[in-house]
This record gives sequence, structure tokens and C-alpha cells, in this order.
Amino acid sequence: MKTNIVSTASGKANVSALFFVKKSVQFSNVLSENAEKQVESVLNGMEDGPFEDLELLEIDEQSTLFVNAAKERGLSSLDHLRMAAFRLAKKASKRQIPMVSMMLADAAPEQFKSILLGLHYADYKFDAYKSKQKDAFQVTFEIVAGEQAAEFKKIAEEVAVENKAIVLAKNLINTSASDLYPEEFVANANTIAKYTPGLSIKVRNMKQLEKEGFMGHVTVGKGSSHEPYMITLSYDGSKGNGKNSRTSKDHLVIVGKGLTFDTGGLCLKPPKSMPEMISDMSGAATALAAIQAIATLKLPIKVSAVCCLAENAIGNKSVLPGDIFTAKNGKTVMVDNTDAEGRLVLSDGLAEAGLIGATHIVDLATLTGAMVRALGYAVAGFFSNDDALALNVINCGEACCEKFWSMPLEEEYADALKDHFADLKNTGSDAGAIAAALFLQEFVPENTAWAHWDIAGTAFVSKAWKYTDFGATGFGVQTLIELARRMSSASDKCENEADNGEYAAVEV
Ligand code: BES
Ligand code: ZN
Ligand code: ZN
Repeated sequence: MKTNIVSTASGKANVSALFFVKKSVQFSNVLSENAEKQVESVLNGMEDGPFEDLELLEIDEQSTLFVNAAKERGLSSLDHLRMAAFRLAKKASKRQIPMVSMMLADAAPEQFKSILLGLHYADYKFDAYKSKQKDAFQVTFEIVAGEQAAEFKKIAEEVAVENKAIVLAKNLINTSASDLYPEEFVANANTIAKYTPGLSIKVRNMKQLEKEGFMGHVTVGKGSSHEPYMITLSYDGSKGNGKNSRTSKDHLVIVGKGLTFDTGGLCLKPPKSMPEMISDMSGAATALAAIQAIATLKLPIKVSAVCCLAENAIGNKSVLPGDIFTAKNGKTVMVDNTDAEGRLVLSDGLAEAGLIGATHIVDLATLTGAMVRALGYAVAGFFSNDDALALNVINCGEACCEKFWSMPLEEEYADALKDHFADLKNTGSDAGAIAAALFLQEFVPENTAWAHWDIAGTAFVSKAWKYTDFGATGFGVQTLIELARRMSSASDKCENEADNGEYAAVEV
């Protein structure tokens, strides 16, 4: 896929695309009077005629593809545009149309961004394991932007950075676990740090983790032939980059669960639910991808990413149910169920976030089957100890077409985590997603705003959903980038308006 942003149409396009919602055309004021009449009669005749989405019709002597930008249920208007562009790109590539033009001169910047993202999504394929790689037909999309051409070009550069991050996360998640074990993840992160200016990396191996008391990693990872690692990536945009005179004082730390595979350990998972566990490192992949984009975009804020990497395997050194270890913050934990391993590595990730001075922590984890049952693949449940951060997560998600639902840190269930011998055990009440979040809360550093995203349902799909046929969805990458973006600009506002040291939640 290629895009060409121009102010006026070159006239070289084979087909022009026209987005419609119900019976009206979007971005219509660029049509000629004659074309408008023809389009109107086509759309009005929709009920009687054989009209379908993606139908190719002659309008004013120009082949025109009619794309329905309100086809699916439950999506926002921006997401409809993404989906419409996605279907358009698939169709154009299948039909081998060399050049498609889109009249977007009167589109709002976020509408243009949505369309562009839809085109990028259509371009993604993961065929590394196919014996024969098929090249998709390359379509050029001419975007006619009128006076907005210069601004749209800038947006397109940003979208390319975001898309690169989404593709990175998806590729890592879709790769088989025997090809992407913790050490291999580290190698990928090292390469990214090397080629991303301003991004530094610290890697701790099993020996260092043990020496420093990060025993969650050691406990989970010691049963595998692949040793566990913890990575801390740091980017400091708070010093300004010339462009931004004012920068945020916040330090956002993203902590990602990175189980490169989760067999369940000695509390073995049933075979049916195991293959999907190649995606149990989605949190870490999303964290890595987001910080790569945040650093590339040079956002004026300090951001770190902690990737908690281990393989939950069965071996003669595997953790035994009933074993007790001391976590980095001094609390003792009894391993009641070896399949509740994510929260153990995350206890170290949260401790590391505190050590490096987080003011805000977002942890992401494919943490519980309970969350999949509660909210499915379309909505991520999250928990937070800070109302402003919670509102910001929901708003950023909405702007990025990623749905978040706030869940309660219900204290009535907290006692269920108590153990007879140890301070805590790693299972709790029947409300499994809440129990996991309450466990994590025990390890959140004091005076730190924290949000925990349980992405078990949204990270990976086994049947087609929106822009993903099968596999990793890339969920969370965009919302994290948007969160960093808004935190940096909102703190500007705070400094200007009322210097209360907090950032205000920004409305969409
Ligand atoms: N990685 C799983 C959670 C999961 C389930 C992710 C489905 C993606 C899809 C996690 O480590 C796990 O096994 N959790 C257990 C916890 C239980 C033993 C307390 C679960 O949810 O069943
Ligand atoms: Zn597990
Ligand atoms: Zn897991």
C-alpha cells in the first residue's frame, strides 16, 4: 500500500472511493453538482436496487466505489471509518486496482487519521511460517486533501510511526513460543533500543534478578530451560527537544506481562486453551512497541517500560504449589496455583517502577480467563487507584477506538488473598479478575497513580474481529501512546492554569 497526499486530484486514479453513512455521503462538498445528483439517486435507491457495500458504479464518468462507513454494530463513527477504509483497501488489492483516489478535503484530521489507520491495518499480514509467501497487489491511495495537504502529511508521518509499533507488537505476539523465548525477546528489545534515538535499555538476567530479590521472575521462570529476564527501557522527553519549551514532570512507567509461553506450570492448562498462550507476552510486546513510538515521536514526557519476561514451563526445578517466596517489596507469597503466574512477575515489575521513580504506572497483562468471560474480546477491563488516570484511560481509549471498562478494586474480596503461612497467596475470590487486581495492588509503590489493564480478551482473537482475521490485535499500543501524549500536554495546562502538581483529565 502506498499513499500519496495531494491538494488537487491528479486525474490518474482508476477508481475514486466514496464513503457513505446511511443515505448521505461523507466529505461530500468536493463532488460536482451533477455527481451529487447521481450519488443521491444511487443512495436513495438503495432499498430497491441490488446495491451493496463496496459496489463499483459510474458517477459522472468516473468509476466510484461506494463504501459503507456505518456497517458494523457498536462502533464509534471514527472506528466505522477505519473499518470502511480497511474493507476498501482489501477490495482494491483483491481487484488489483492500481490507484484509488479519496476526496478528503473536508475531512477532520482525526477522520483522516482513522481512514489511514484502516488502510494500514489492511496491509498487515503474518506469513512468516507459510511455505510460500504471497505478495498482495500494491494499491496506491491518492488522498486529495485540498488546503489540508500539509497538515495531513504530518499526520501521516505520525500514523506511520504508530502503525510500525502496532506491527511490531503483533509480530512479536504471533511468533511461536519456541522462536520467541525470553532471551529472544531481549534481543529484539536490544535492537529496538539501539536504533531508536533517546531510548536506553537495562537488562537483568536470572542471576541479577535473584541477587536483587526480584523473586517473582525467579519463581516463575526457574522451571524452564529458558531463563527469565526483566528489561527496563527508558526515554526521557522531559528535557524538551527544542520544539517543546514546556514539558511534563510526570514519569509514566508501563509494565508488561511477558510470559513467552504459559503452560500453567505444574497446575497444567488443558490442551484446548494452551496454543493461545503464545500471546501471554502481549503486555510486554505492547509496552515495548508503545515506548518505541513514544520515543520516535519525541513526546515531551518521561516514559519507561518494564517487560517482565519468563516462560511458565514444567521442569524438575518448577515452582511447586505451596512454595513460598519473598517478593521484592518484602511481602511473602504462597504459590497456590502455578497457573496464576502473571501476577508474580508483575510484582517485580511494579517494584521496579517504584525504584525508577514512577508517578504513574500502567500495567498491561493477559492476566485472567475471568476477564475474557466477563468482557470478551471487544472490551478491556481495567482497575485503577486514581480517578483522574482512570478517566484519562477511558478517554484516550475512545479516541483510539479501543474500549475500556472500569472495574472495581472491591475490598470485600481482599481478605480472600490472605494465606495461613505467608502474607498472601496468589489466588483469591471467585471474582478472578478482581482477585488478580487486588493481588497486584499489594505491590503498587506508595503515592503512585496506577492502572491495571487486563487484556486477556482483547490482545488475541481466534476468530475474525474488526481488522484481525486471527491472532494478535495490537490492542493497547495506540491508547498508551495517546496517554503519554495527553499526559504531556495536560501537564502544560496545569502549569499554566493552576500549579497543583496534577494533570487534568482531558476531554475527547
Ligand atoms: N495467561 C493466563 C490468562 C489467560 C487466559 C490469558 C485466557 C489469555 C486467555 C493466566 O496466567 C492464567 O492462567 N490465569 C488463571 C488464574 C487462575 C489459576 C487463578 C486463570 O485465569 O484461569
Ligand atoms: Zn497462567
Ligand atoms: Zn499467563
